Amino acid sequence: MRCALISAVLYVCCALAQSGSVSSYISTESPIAKAGVLANIGSSGSKSSGAMSGIVIASPSSTNPDYLYTWTRDSSLVFKALIDQFTTGEDTSLRGLIDEFISAEAILQQVSNPSGTVSTGGLGEPKFNIDETAFTGAWGRPQRDGPALRATAMITYANWLIANDNTTFVTDTLWPIIELDLNYVAGNWNQTTFDLWEEVDSSSFFTTAVQHRSLRDGIALANAIGQTSVVSNFETQAANLLCFLQSYWNPSGNFITANTGGGRSGKDANTVLTSIHTFDPAAGCDTITFQPCSDKALANLKVYVDSFRSIYTINSGIASNAAVATGRYPEDTYQGGNPWYLATFAVAEQLYDSLIVWDQVGELNVTSTSLAFFQQFLSSVTTGTYASTTSTFSTLTSAIRTFADGFVLENAKYTPSDGGLAEQYSRNNGTPVSAVDLTWSYASALTVFAAEGGKTFASWGAAGLQVPSTCSTGGSGSSGSGNTVSVTFNVDATTVWGENIYLTGSVSELQDWSTSTALLLSSADYPTWSITVDLPASTQVQYKYIRIFNGQVTWESDPNNEITTPASGSFIENDTWR
Ligand code: NOJ
Ligand code: NOJ
Repeated sequence: MRCALISAVLYVCCALAQSGSVSSYISTESPIAKAGVLANIGSSGSKSSGAMSGIVIASPSSTNPDYLYTWTRDSSLVFKALIDQFTTGEDTSLRGLIDEFISAEAILQQVSNPSGTVSTGGLGEPKFNIDETAFTGAWGRPQRDGPALRATAMITYANWLIANDNTTFVTDTLWPIIELDLNYVAGNWNQTTFDLWEEVDSSSFFTTAVQHRSLRDGIALANAIGQTSVVSNFETQAANLLCFLQSYWNPSGNFITANTGGGRSGKDANTVLTSIHTFDPAAGCDTITFQPCSDKALANLKVYVDSFRSIYTINSGIASNAAVATGRYPEDTYQGGNPWYLATFAVAEQLYDSLIVWDQVGELNVTSTSLAFFQQFLSSVTTGTYASTTSTFSTLTSAIRTFADGFVLENAKYTPSDGGLAEQYSRNNGTPVSAVDLTWSYASALTVFAAEGGKTFASWGAAGLQVPSTCSTGGSGSSGSGNTVSVTFNVDATTVWGENIYLTGSVSELQDWSTSTALLLSSADYPTWSITVDLPASTQVQYKYIRIFNGQVTWESDPNNEITTPASGSFIENDTWR
């Protein structure tokens, strides 16, 4: 009895001590992170000398690595965090800086660069010099997440302006900038892209998801300001994106495969970042948009986190259900392939976002997909819905809060005493590695701290969406003049874990026989793999399925398969791999 009492008291002590240290880390680190972001924005930021007004440098590091450039992705994610602080009234002093960001990005949109001009693909250029000229060296380009992230950041500001009686500025100044980015998204989302880590040229979950979100954001804004001519195209392409988004789910591995190419495990912080940057607190635990508390996003989180348990020395000895340091992806070798602050914070943020929603909806749902995630915290839990009044709900949510805090504390443990956040910390001993004062690391601290405090931001319309019954892979830029018909290809193919089936063929809609951009089929009905594409009507089309495993392509045997598409309507082709 006495022992039980003492251990109960001890338990309470330790639980308090732990959450205490999260709050003490947040109170010291939060102003440092905010100052760290502001120091890296020109022209007056203390660490960004040479950067034009409103230009965000990735880091002041100018050698090994040289990050003294401005990336559209980093800048847009950073400004989204600042715009959220401004529009929620947390920091009303930021308006001038936000306006400078908008002016700077409007200039960059017009700078001709190796990806093209503003009207021929230049919006997909990943980075620019900080004096607003083009970077002309070799790089992984294009990266098609940038325009989407920039549009979402600006739309968040636009919505605030409309609510605060400044619609004119939105219509005259912001909309033309936003519209360029959204037309780029709508027209090019179906083209391959380098992923957010600038390495894999294929389709990428993060890119697809933020593109989808940006069009939904854009549809609402366009309707609000009467720019309705774009709406039907954006709606068509958003539906196509949502359809395509589903194909990244790997049902046998129980995780989201980050890229359609790349020949890696596919476990990647790409997917966790997607869940926090497409969080919509009004959408509950919606699975089709992979909301933070959706069964798929939680299952994925476990697989992603677990992939770092045994590969980093600093994670050794940590219990298999406790927080660890995480990186971009387990196979990473860039700058040592270490844990990243922004990746480890993202795990915590996804969990805090989940806790916010469970509290708000007053229940938590355990499905067969998310069971393994929840069993980490209560091994006896079974599938079902647990109301907030049940002990299962309290046990799980309090353990998950401790788990989330643990990821913040991992980063806290490896934050140097001056609070500076680099890009990475050593997998062997936790000392900071790679670019110092990474702007994105600081922004990731601001957003996770907000989520820890239960703060949420505006919805983007994820609630109540439905996956259309047929998916078209045609962006608005590629539509030809003739009629198209919707063709579903089903193929029975047995695969090994990690192997995927793709389709390629003789028309541009089937990627002109390319293997690197071949279309990924969904394995939702495994062993039947399936995809629906829009093809030209009344046309003879040749095609083959290919299988890709660890980057190795295997073709079906000869001859080519052939169909003639109908004049109208839709068509289903059932094949067996040969
Ligand atoms: C530079 C990119 O910034 C980084 O993401 C990548 O990992 C390395 N190049 C290696 O390709
Ligand atoms: C490398 C990262 O992989 C990429 O995502 C980022 O945009 C650049 N560094 C700049 O921070």
